Amino acid sequence: MSATEAHENAGKSLDLRKKSRYEASLRLSVAPMMDWTDSHCRVFHRLLAPHARLYSEMVHANAVIHGDRDRLLAMDPVEHPVALQLGGSEPELLAQAAKIGAEYGFDEINLNCGCPSDRVQAGRFGACLMREPALVAASVAAMVEACDVPVTVKCRLGVDDDHDYGTFSAFVDTIAQAGCRMFVVHARNAWLKGLSPKENREVPPLRYDWAYRLKRERPDLQIVVNGGIATQDEATQHLQHADGAMLGRAAYHDPYLLHRLDVAWFGGELRTRGELLRALRPYVEDQLARGPLQKGVSLKHITRHLLGLFAGERGGRAFRQVLSEGAHKPGANWSLIEQALALTESFADAQVDAA
Ligand SMILES: Cc1cc2nc3c(=O)[nH]c(=O)nc-3n(C[C@H](O)[C@H](O)[C@H](O)COP(=O)(O)O)c2cc1C
Repeated sequence: MSATEAHENAGKSLDLRKKSRYEASLRLSVAPMMDWTDSHCRVFHRLLAPHARLYSEMVHANAVIHGDRDRLLAMDPVEHPVALQLGGSEPELLAQAAKIGAEYGFDEINLNCGCPSDRVQAGRFGACLMREPALVAASVAAMVEACDVPVTVKCRLGVDDDHDYGTFSAFVDTIAQAGCRMFVVHARNAWLKGLSPKENREVPPLRYDWAYRLKRERPDLQIVVNGGIATQDEATQHLQHADGAMLGRAAYHDPYLLHRLDVAWFGGELRTRGELLRALRPYVEDQLARGPLQKGVSLKHITRHLLGLFAGERGGRAFRQVLSEGAHKPGANWSLIEQALALTESFADAQVDAA
């Protein structure tokens, strides 16, 4: 075999490994969350859940095309498999943005058809696209044509007083025909009038049965259930009926849940919170070494995502407090995280002593 052939073969097997990692990650994913799932957050989640699929915050197609791409699409190589979520409703712009996202290395491009905020409605994208299946299909078709990674959709069950399963499944069918094989179903309606985005994640009732039925009736599609999944048992239940479970708030506020799920579903050793956090040290130190002028990274940009690591544990509150109070101070560095960890460990030691 010539050196060129060997090189090509190595490249192919790397691509295959990447593809199979991506495919396996369907079972467990962390939801796209604006202002939360930035690159620092995703690097932390990756350490906890080596097999999960991670999603970026939503970025509008226009911002990808005209904005500061290196900042908006910042991604660390350890994040794979990682999806870029786009907002928008103009097929040509979405296609351009999808192409750029794939070139930046994202493994999937996801279109937001579920966000109900006023700003998003004014821009005629997000959840109001549930009423425009033809436009979504045209967008998906243009994105599929423009990039060589899977194009997926995250949607609701409907908007406002749509309560017809047939309308929901017809929406999915129209988009599927355009080339989308995977749907994340946030299993409730979006109410476009009178509810804030936060209320829209809590008030409209959850109807997982619609997502399950969709999977039963369309076994060729990949259906991931999202919305209100709070525990390991609940997440595991969903896997009986769908291809995957996507966690948002629970993953963010109690990230150790991600680790427990990853180990339970994919195997491996359960590691302690402290071990997992210490594995983040090289990343934190590398980010801080880049200097505030160059990158604007300070410790607080990273530690804000770590606050829930000891949620519900003794010392969890002290851990949170040390990080919240110290991370914004000039010169704050890894030693602050050690200080916070030491507090949780002293509680653990006290428990052992008392036993
Ligand atoms: C702070 C925050 C920001 C969010 N931003 C987005 C977003 O950018 N795109 C999106 O599709 N959904 C967004 N969502 C919705 C989540 O992806 C998810 O669908 C929702 O929180 C329900 O899942 P959960 O109950 O597991 O949190 C956001 C949710 C939160 C809490």
